[in-house]
Amino acid sequence: MSPARTVRIAPSLLAADLGRLREELAAIEAGGADWLHFDVMDGVFVPNLTFGAKLIETCRALTRLPIDVHLMTVEPEKYFDSFVKAGANVLTIHVETAPHLNRQIGRIKELGCSAGAVMNPGTPVESVAEVAADLDLLLIMSVNPGFGGQKFIPASVDKIRRARAILDATRSRAALEVDGGISRDTINACWRAGADTFVAGVAVFQAKDPAAEIAALRALCAEAV
Ligand code: DX5
Ligand code: ZN
Repeated sequence: MSPARTVRIAPSLLAADLGRLREELAAIEAGGADWLHFDVMDGVFVPNLTFGAKLIETCRALTRLPIDVHLMTVEPEKYFDSFVKAGANVLTIHVETAPHLNRQIGRIKELGCSAGAVMNPGTPVESVAEVAADLDLLLIMSVNPGFGGQKFIPASVDKIRRARAILDATRSRAALEVDGGISRDTINACWRAGADTFVAGVAVFQAKDPAAEIAALRALCAEAV
């Protein structure tokens, strides 16, 4: 595993205080966050309803951080054009909702956006093997999607290891991201398994000092820890 692997910390907007959106975004940007993770839930694929293009546009105007959009929706292709137009930098779609994964990944790239694929904890990581070489990002869910603040599923660590093997075998340069229950207790095992990009909702936004928390999470991404 390359020691030069880049670490990215991606705070999830889901855990932010939206009444203080401007301040929350400023705090994570100044605090060293690498991406803003933006969870789109449609109340159909997952039992919760969240944000759309309008809020991407609002965030785009408030931060320079890349906006990493996680689409937990059926028929995700409905949103590609408007979300890219609103300022999304990465669109990640669930394999469970993407029967034409190859075509959908291609369409996201045609729009000039980075393309990611993600699967639920119960879906095999091999479901992305055929498109791995085309991906800009592979996301492993370490909780069942739908809510922030859930407990990390320990079996995710081995799944990250298998995801890393698929990316290496296909010479994919995709970022390997993990989402759900990431904290000081879980991040190092994920890093050691081969992840490089870490979504953190509650851990960052509910910390007393988000900047210190981002720094602490990043510091835990070292082989020796
Ligand atoms: C869950 C979302 C996550 C969530 C993570 O469905 O995809 O991005 O915000 O929240 P934490 O880090 O609090 O588990
Ligand atoms: Zn997410």
